[in-house]
Amino acid sequence: MTARLVVCTTCRASEEAPTDGVRLSGGRALLNEVIGAATAADSGSLRVEEQACLWACSSYCTVYLSERGKPGYLAGRFSSTPEAAQAIVAFARLYAASPDGAVPYRDWPEGMKGHFIARLPAEA
Ligand code: FES
Repeated sequence: MTARLVVCTTCRASEEAPTDGVRLSGGRALLNEVIGAATAADSGSLRVEEQACLWACSSYCTVYLSERGKPGYLAGRFSSTPEAAQAIVAFARLYAASPDGAVPYRDWPEGMKGHFIARLPAEA
């Protein structure tokens, strides 16, 4: 099975950042960092995808992690940094490797703590 890591491409970069007319949104910048981190980590069990708006705009930058049979996780309040991307990819790899999508808190990357918004029911 392959987990999906969806990055919002239209999230703003900061409270002050405009949402229109910018060459590279905060979300697009985070997506680029996530792709780089996933490639460096050889995350074969992970598929990075993009979507314009995950409807959690006030928690920019946002990502969504899911896999059939496992609960989905919506997380946000990330900056568009390599460190944030590495934490997201590290958590996603643990999620993908888990049988039920549950990652013990002791294993969470520091960069994920305080970023979760919602835990959504698994698809039937
Ligand atoms: S613009 Fe990213 S969640 Fe809406």
